[in-house]
Amino acid sequence: MEAAEILPLLQARLAASLSPKRAGHSRQVAELAARLCLERGLDPDLGRLAGLAHDLCKEMSRPRQEALLEVYRASGLDSLVAGPAPVASFMAAEILHGPAAAGLLLRDFGYAEPSVLEAIAWHTVGHSDMGLLAILVYCADKLEPGRRHVDPDFRDACLGLEPRAMLLAVVEDSLAWLRHKGWEIAPETFLLYNALRKPVQTR
Ligand SMILES: [Fe+2]
Ligand SMILES: [Fe+2]
Repeated sequence: MEAAEILPLLQARLAASLSPKRAGHSRQVAELAARLCLERGLDPDLGRLAGLAHDLCKEMSRPRQEALLEVYRASGLDSLVAGPAPVASFMAAEILHGPAAAGLLLRDFGYAEPSVLEAIAWHTVGHSDMGLLAILVYCADKLEPGRRHVDPDFRDACLGLEPRAMLLAVVEDSLAWLRHKGWEIAPETFLLYNALRKPVQTR
């Protein structure tokens, strides 16, 4: 199926699977990701699709999420995930829903565009070799206007930056927020932060 065909199906799935608040967040991420894609030369439907799908498994039981992680791993589409052992932090309760949603797109919709699946799988913690779509979706998830703790001036400033600079600003803000809340920081996020502070290397 093409992205445009899946979008209405995902809207229906959102309404059936998530609380109204989380479904609203997903729609806001979808629209912001679509805008960022359009501004940077990517198909906006890819950002829209990733935004609608990224939190689709967040209210699912852990065993069902683990089964979907296996679907994504078995596809071999993500070399970081397809190794003999799962990436350890993917098994953390707060992070598992990302790769699970990538598995759901594969299993339930037969959708296998690697850049979209990568964006969905890694939206929570990021990783240091993310492609452009994954960067934009990661930033859209953290900057969508429903995120009350994000300062509107900071959001506007970020949205005007080129992707790598926007990602660095968003990661720095996320790290500060996680520290403020006393929450755990995934190793992938530290690796991403360190990579972004080095001289420019984009793929
Ligand atoms: Fe999420
Ligand atoms: Fe989200």
